[in-house]
Order: sequence, then C-alpha cells, then structure tokens
Amino acid sequence: MDATMEAYPLSDSVFSQIRSLMHESIGLDLAPHKRTLVSARLGARVQRLGLSGFEAYLHRVSSDQDGGEFQMMVDLLTTHETYFFREPKHFALLEAELRQARPERLRVWSAASSFGDEAYTLAMLLQELQQRGIIGAEWSILGTDISERVLRSAQAAIYPAERLRHVTPERLRRHCLQGHGDSEGLVQVHPDLCKRVSFGQLNLCHSVQGVGLFEVVFLRNVLIYFDGPTKREVVNRVLAQLKPGGLFFIGSAEGRVPCDVALQPLSPGAFRKL
Ligand SMILES: C[S@@+](CC[C@H](N)C(=O)[O-])C[C@H]1O[C@@H](n2cnc3c(N)ncnc32)[C@H](O)[C@@H]1O
Repeated sequence: MDATMEAYPLSDSVFSQIRSLMHESIGLDLAPHKRTLVSARLGARVQRLGLSGFEAYLHRVSSDQDGGEFQMMVDLLTTHETYFFREPKHFALLEAELRQARPERLRVWSAASSFGDEAYTLAMLLQELQQRGIIGAEWSILGTDISERVLRSAQAAIYPAERLRHVTPERLRRHCLQGHGDSEGLVQVHPDLCKRVSFGQLNLCHSVQGVGLFEVVFLRNVLIYFDGPTKREVVNRVLAQLKPGGLFFIGSAEGRVPCDVALQPLSPGAFRKL
C-alpha cells in the first residue's frame, strides 16, 4: 500500500458513490477490483488539492461550476493510450475496400479519438488515396471524445515523435513538419491535413445523432470501459450513424460486438453494416 492510500482511506460508501457517478455519467464500469486503482489515482489528486479525503473530493467534483474537476476525474480514471497506425491491418483493409468502392464522397468518424492519432492516420491515408484518384476530393474526418484535455491536444496536432513510430519515413516527409531547436523531438501534422479533420466533445453514453451519417466508423479500444448492457447501447447508437454497407472497426482484441444490427465480419475487429 502506498503512502497516499494510507493517508486517504477509501470507504465502501464513497467508492460506491464514485462508481455510480462514473457509470451514470460516462458509462465507465469500475468493478470492485478497480478499487485500488481508483484509490491510487484519485488519492494523488486529493493530496494535490490539499483536501481532507475522498468525501471532500466528491463534494469538490459536484460543486465545481464549470465541470473542470469532473473532467479531471474522468481523465484520471480512463486511459488515453493511442498512436499513429495502431493495428495497421485495419488501415490496409480500409484501403482495399476503398479501392473497390472508389467513393466520390466520404465521411469517417473516429468515435473515441483520444489525442487524435487515429483521426490523423486516417487523414494521411485518405489524402494519398485522393491523390491517386481512388477516392473523390470530398472527404473529411470527425474525431470525438469525452475528454476536453485530449481534444485540445488533438486540435493542436503536435506529437512526440515516438507516437509516430509506425509512420513510414515517406509519410512523415509528406504529411508532417519536424520540430527543431526547442521543438526537437516533436512532430506537427501538416496544416493541409488538419483542414480535413475536426474534433468535438461527445459522450458516447448520450445521444450521438448530431454527428450525422458516415461511411466509415472507428470505435476502437473504448468498449473496454463499459459493462455488457452499456456496450450494447453504445454500439447500437454508434451503428445508427453508419450508412448501410459502411465499415465499422473496433479493437481487434475486443471480441464479439454486442449489438442489434446485422454485421458481416471481415477480419478481427472489422465489419460491414448490412
Ligand atoms: C484508449 S483511447 C482509444 C483511442 C483510439 N480510438 C485508439 O484505439 O487508439 C479511449 C478513449 O475513449 C474515451 N472515452 C471513454 N469513455 C467515453 C465516453 N463515454 N464517450 C466518449 N469517449 C469516451 C477516453 O477519453 C479515451 O480517450
């Protein structure tokens, strides 16, 4: 047990209040075995704020006018792990499908975009396909996430070079600007590519109809946060925004897709809406 956990004991009742708050607001399933993680991550925040304990912290979260501390809590209890060209087989499959379909117009949704790595990866691919005449000029990408912090960073489009470790040198030259001097080790996505990508805050546990319809949806590595019934609701809601015949991606290790929509499996984590 670390010192923070000893200093701020997490009672059954407060843990249960934290679980309900997170489940009701963002669908996060904090199972009983996550108690140590909750205590460690939020305990450090309690200490930082100089509060007396978790009860005082919960009060701070609920009385905070602008919701900033709630956002902080969400950030502390979720992971934003992502990088460019994560699970490259999905991008290869998307390319192969687009070569067949040769769409004039294309809207793609990165539905839990985190820092934007997935959205800009898609933009690199689509720009290349457009230049080769495989898709039309009317394409765009929307990235959404619950976390304001990651969205701000996504809009800035500046990344530690390490996150682009799977981007080929040719693509790096074509789509990115390398930092020098104080910015050494940082990479900025080219403004021409950024123009095609927009970001917005969206909670997948609420209505998502406002985003419109898409030909392709990426919902990768977010379903792990949700319990069974919430997973089904989220997938149904997201699939309602995918056009029939459209492509749907989840993390390839995320198993079966719980939903009430007919899907044709194409490869692990990749499906076509029927
Ligand atoms: C692990 S990242 C996935 C990033 C990217 N899709 C990938 O596969 O690399 C999961 C993201 O889901 C977001 N998230 C968690 N619950 C959410 C919710 N209810 N609505 C929208 N986004 C949520 C988190 O903020 C986090 O940025």
